Amino acid sequence: MGLSDCSSIIEADVPSIDLQHRRIFELAATFADSGDQIRMMKSLAILCDHVKTHFREEEEMMAACGFPGLAAHRQQHGECRKMLVDLLARARHMSLDQIADEVKQLINGWIYNHILTADFEYVPYLKAWQSGQAPVLSASPADAR
Ligand SMILES: [Fe+2]
Ligand SMILES: [Fe+2]
Repeated sequence: MGLSDCSSIIEADVPSIDLQHRRIFELAATFADSGDQIRMMKSLAILCDHVKTHFREEEEMMAACGFPGLAAHRQQHGECRKMLVDLLARARHMSLDQIADEVKQLINGWIYNHILTADFEYVPYLKAWQSGQAPVLSASPADAR
C-alpha cells in the first residue's frame, strides 16, 4: 500500500482532523521521489512541524471535550515527537533512501496505527462535544441523581 492510499481509509469524519492527517500522508509521500539532500532535510523539517502542530491541536481538543484518555494519548504523541527529533538529528548523515525508508516506517507505520487506534478513541467524545451534547463522561449513574 502506498503512503497516499492510507489516508482514504482513516477518515474519522472530523474535517479539521482528517485534513491534518491527510496532509501528513501527502507530505510523507513526497519523500518517495527523493530529490537532493537539502530538499529532503527541508521536507523533513516541514513534516515534523506539521506532526507537532497536529499533536498540539489534537491535545487541545481532547482536553476541551473531556476525553479521559488524554494523559496516555499525550504520552504516545511524546514518543513519536522523540522519534521525529531523533530522525531529524540523524538524517544529515543518512542516504536519501534511508531517510525515505524511515519516514515511511514512521508515517505509514506508527502514525497510521496511532490514528486507527488512539485517535479513533477520542472521536466519539469530540463529536459529542461539538454537537453540544453532554460529555460522554457525565453519563454515569451518580450524575443522574
Ligand atoms: Fe492524529
Ligand atoms: Fe493522536
